[in-house]
Amino acid sequence: MGGRVLSVASECVPLVKTGGLADVAGALPGALEPLGWEMRTLIPAYPGLVEKLADATEAWSDDDLFGGPARVLIGRVGPAIILALDAPHLYDRSGGPYGDPHDFPDNARRFAALSWVAAQIAASGLSDGWQPQVVHCHDWQAGFAPAYMDLCTRTPARSVMTIHNIAFKGEAPAAALDALRLPVSAFNRDSLEFWGNLSSLKAGIAHADAVTTVSPTYAAELMRPAFGFGFEGLLEYRAADFHGILNGIDTAVWDPARDPLIVETYDAATLSKKARNRAALLAEFDLAETEGPLAVVVSRLTGQKGMDLLAESLPDFLASGGALAVLGSGEAGIEADLRSLAEAHPGRVGLRIGYDEALSHRMFAGGDAVLVPSRFEPCGLTQMYGLAYGCVPVVALTGGLADTVIDANPMAISDGVATGLQFHPVDALAFSQTLRRTVSLFQDKGTWTKMQKTGMSQALGWERSAASYADLYESLIA
Ligand code: ADP
Ligand code: GLC
Repeated sequence: MGGRVLSVASECVPLVKTGGLADVAGALPGALEPLGWEMRTLIPAYPGLVEKLADATEAWSDDDLFGGPARVLIGRVGPAIILALDAPHLYDRSGGPYGDPHDFPDNARRFAALSWVAAQIAASGLSDGWQPQVVHCHDWQAGFAPAYMDLCTRTPARSVMTIHNIAFKGEAPAAALDALRLPVSAFNRDSLEFWGNLSSLKAGIAHADAVTTVSPTYAAELMRPAFGFGFEGLLEYRAADFHGILNGIDTAVWDPARDPLIVETYDAATLSKKARNRAALLAEFDLAETEGPLAVVVSRLTGQKGMDLLAESLPDFLASGGALAVLGSGEAGIEADLRSLAEAHPGRVGLRIGYDEALSHRMFAGGDAVLVPSRFEPCGLTQMYGLAYGCVPVVALTGGLADTVIDANPMAISDGVATGLQFHPVDALAFSQTLRRTVSLFQDKGTWTKMQKTGMSQALGWERSAASYADLYESLIA
C-alpha cells in the first residue's frame, strides 16, 4: 500500500541531535521508503540548519505564527526530505534546541507553533500539493499536533504519537491556553489538562489515533505507576491503541566492518582485529594495559541513565582488573563524582566530559563491554551499538534494554543465545554483583567470544520496526 507521512520532530540526524530521538527521526524516512511510504520531516529551522539543505524552496508561509512571520522551506539532506520551519522569533537563537543551559521560557509556544504548522499542513497541504495521510508526532515537542488536528482544523489525516521519553511532559500553565490557540473547553482531564496544568504530551496521548513507544517492555512498564510519570492511567485506558515498536540502529553507520571512524575494521570472522582498537582506546584514555575487561560508557550523565551508580559500583570491578572509559556530560554532581573516581584510579578510569560522535565509535570498537545501568530506558541505542561491535552490553533489566539483550544465565550460555548481562533491581549492589559476573565471564574466553559473536549476528537494523510502523499507518488510513 504505502502513502504519505509527515514526521514532526524537534531534532533529526544529521541536522541536530541531543539524543536518540534524533537518530530515530533521521532513520525512519529511509527505512519506510522501500515500503512505499514517503515520509517528510518537519523540524524547526534552528540557526544554520537551512544552509545544510540542498535546493531549499518555500512550501508554506504564514504572516503570524504565534507572534511573527514564518515559512516552511522544503529541501533535502541526503535522501531525506526536510521541511524546515523558519520562524526567527521562535528559533533564531543561540544555545541548544531547547535552550542552554536552561530551557527557554517560551518553549511551550515554540513547540506549540511547530505542532500548529503540522496540523495546518495536514489540513491544507504544501504548495507543491503534498498532503500527508498520517502525522507522526515525536515526544512533547509535537504533542499538541494531534490536539490541533482534532480540535482546531478539519483534516482527514490520522495521527500517531510516539513517546521516546515520558519524563518530559511539555507542561505550561493553564493561562497559556489562549496564547497557544487551544480551546478553553478542552481544558479537562480527557484532553489537555494534566494535574492542573497544560501538558502537550498529555494532549498528544489523549488525541492521537494511535500511541506508540519505542520498545514492547517499556510499553508495558508505562502502564504502571513506577514508570508512567502520572500517565499510567491514560495509557492503560488507551491500551488498545498503544503499541511498543522497538527502535533499530542505522547499520550503514554502525558497522565495524566498514566504519571509517575506527582504528581497524573487523567483523565476527576477524574479531581478533578488535584488539588494535582496544589498545588504541586504552592509549587515548591514558589507561594501563589490563587483563580484565575494558568497560565503556557513552551516555548522558544523568540519574535516568543510572550514572550515579558508577562511582559506587565500580571500585570492586577495578580492583579485580577491570578498566573504565567514560564519554558523556550531564548533571554536575555525577560529573564531579566521576572526576573523583578517575583521580582515585589513575590508569584505570578515563573520563571525557563532552559530546564526541567519532570518539563514541572508537569506544564501541575498543571496549570489551558497554555499561547501561538505566533506571528507565524506553529503548536505548548504545546497547545495540555494543552488540554490533562485539562490545558486550551490561544493562539494567528494563525497557528496551530488556528487549534487546539476552542475559548470560547458564541456560542461555549452553543454548548459545546469550548476548550480554542484565541486572535487577537497578541499584549499586546488583550492578556491582553483575560487574563481578562480567569479570569472570571475560576470563572464560570461549564463552565471551561466543557471546560477542552472537551479539554481532543480531538483526539490529530498521527493517522490522519500519514494517511495524507501516502496518500501523495502514491500519489507520484503511
Ligand atoms: P537517550 O536518547 O535517552 O540519551 P539513547 O541511547 O537512545 O539515549 O541515545 C543516545 C544517543 O546519543 C546514542 O546515539 C549515543 O551514542 C549518543 N551519545 C550520548 N552521549 C554521547 C556523547 N557524549 N558523545 C557522543 N555520542 C553520545
Ligand atoms: C529517548 C529514550 C531512549 C530512546 C530514544 C529514541 O531519548 O531515552 O531510550 O532510545 O528516545 O527512541
